[in-house]
Amino acid sequence: SPSDPDLVERARAAKEKLGDKVFVLGHHYQRDEVIQFADVTGDSFKLARDAAARPDAEYIVFCGVHFMAESADILTSDDQKVVLPDLAAGCSMADMATAEQVAECWDVLTEAGIAEQVVPVSYMNSSADIKAFTGKHGGTICTSSNAERALEWAFQQGEKVLFLPDQHLGRNTAVRDMGMSLEDCVVYNPHRPNGGLTAEELRAAKMILWRGHCSVHGRFSLDSVNDVRERIPGVNVLVHPECKHEVVSAADYVGSTEYIIKALEAAPAGSKWAVGTELNLVRRLANRFAPEGKEIVFLDKTVCFCSTMNRIDLPHLVWALESLAEGNLVNRIEVDKETEAFARLALERMLALP
Ligand code: 13P
Ligand code: SF4
Repeated sequence: SPSDPDLVERARAAKEKLGDKVFVLGHHYQRDEVIQFADVTGDSFKLARDAAARPDAEYIVFCGVHFMAESADILTSDDQKVVLPDLAAGCSMADMATAEQVAECWDVLTEAGIAEQVVPVSYMNSSADIKAFTGKHGGTICTSSNAERALEWAFQQGEKVLFLPDQHLGRNTAVRDMGMSLEDCVVYNPHRPNGGLTAEELRAAKMILWRGHCSVHGRFSLDSVNDVRERIPGVNVLVHPECKHEVVSAADYVGSTEYIIKALEAAPAGSKWAVGTELNLVRRLANRFAPEGKEIVFLDKTVCFCSTMNRIDLPHLVWALESLAEGNLVNRIEVDKETEAFARLALERMLALP
């Protein structure tokens, strides 16, 4: 949607008034009307690093979802304030693993006699509580751009991995990138007694995958891949690793949002691409590369925007920036000190991965 010129002017003016006091981060899935005001854009990994690289900014305005703002708070100093323009911008995947459920899971692993062999690896898309659990139990965080390195590290520390909360990223990385078999993976369902698994099954598994998924990427199907190949001969299928295993297996290229952008930047004129990730990003890339003769289509027309990413719109951004410019700290995301300490440990293990 074209931005309201009045709101654009107000956002610009508030940002100018704040000057170096504010730093605006924008995830690639944000709307165009918001992304135009981002000082940096990136995937989850890049934004975590960039947040930490601005110690002088008093306010970090995070245009993304709640877990990203929490991670920015964890990685920045205590006197820097992280602001999420709409507090309702959560993530359904992150909500699929609660602290109580994960504590219960650890009890199940302890009962089965395997907890000492298990290293937790948690996807960035998780609450600060889950990151703290991960840090406390010797594990690391990963993003879609370093999941393989995180798993390699984890398997140097222990024999098994508990991967939270995205079963697809966990399975795709283990099977596609690391040569494990599907039989090495089991799925722990937090809504069933003992995760729906026997102690035997837990002992035999290498990868214990939490039963979580992304409600957007989970909707791309093998049919979408087959259909697009039929419709557009010679098309390259490029998808995010949050897609189901069968989709990733049928795709030509798989990677994080930053990887997807780089792949399309490097693509030759005349090439054709079907991209399976969030729609705001795919549309932006289609428009950006059309003049260079690269044809980019959305992998499946029935899949829509990430509704929580989309909650950050220009009115919310203007409200946040104007409030800050008037000295009102609104929508601060602040992780409590104890959670923060353990969560930081897990995040720093990720940042130190080779
Ligand atoms: P990346 O930007 O790290 O690929 O993450 C995708 C995502 O789903 C974020 O919510
Ligand atoms: Fe969460 Fe999926 Fe939306 Fe990313 S795209 S914020 S993983 S629901």
